[in-house]
Amino acid sequence: MKIVLLGPPGAGKGTQAKELAKRLKLAHISTGDLLRQNVSKDTALGKEAQGYMNKGALVPDELVSKMLIERITRADVKDGFILDGFPRTIAQAETLDAMLRDNKMMIDLAVYLDSTEKVIIQRLSGRLVCSKCGANFHITNMPPKINMVCDGCGSSLYQRSDDKEETIRRRLDVYKKESAPVIQYYEAKGKLERINADLDAGVVLDEIIRLAK
Ligand code: AP5
Repeated sequence: MKIVLLGPPGAGKGTQAKELAKRLKLAHISTGDLLRQNVSKDTALGKEAQGYMNKGALVPDELVSKMLIERITRADVKDGFILDGFPRTIAQAETLDAMLRDNKMMIDLAVYLDSTEKVIIQRLSGRLVCSKCGANFHITNMPPKINMVCDGCGSSLYQRSDDKEETIRRRLDVYKKESAPVIQYYEAKGKLERINADLDAGVVLDEIIRLAK
């Protein structure tokens, strides 16, 4: 099964993708996580990507697509994947389709997590992320059992540098202009399903699992 999760920043793509990957035994591939790993390891890609990410802009297509293709061709992806944060432009969607076509594969399902701006800002301004395993928490919606400590691995939690209100608004503008057209791309291919992502995380998860069956 090859699933793409679409939706604005804060819609819950990462939260849902992590849980889906466990339940459906698929690889979770997040381009945001891969880019942040490159930034923290200070790689050439990380150095180039950091400026775009801090401003809330998209990292250029060719850099992200190259990184994605390298990841998607690894052995753990052979049974399928859940893509979180990719594709984010029509050019990325076309690159992905061409690469899958060359390998006689295709996307089975694109899920659009639809969320309102008010909910997005509340979620992102309170998000906490584990510095080791990347698990997501929220100060009030999904608080960790111990303050600023990951329930799963016990490492410290931090706030992402692009989760400042001004950068969140910029990310939303970029999303509307550059990423929203990807929804129509999958709709035209008959692959798109929409979900109200403002609902409780468990309700959203059950709905995605139902669609994936
Ligand atoms: P990325 O990391 O992909 O960020 P994003 O798309 O902006 O999405 P987020 O991670 O902010 O939100 P999410 O939808 O995953 O929500 P989450 O589950 O965390 O990308 C970061 C940057 O990298 C981009 O700005 C860009 O610069 C670059 N980049 C990445 N991919 C790229 C690409 N393909 N091309 C070019 N550039 C790229 O949830 C948010 C919070 O809400 C959490 O606290 C969570 O606990 C809480 N929450 C989630 N669901 C619920 C719920 N149902 N109810 C209550 N709370 C909830």
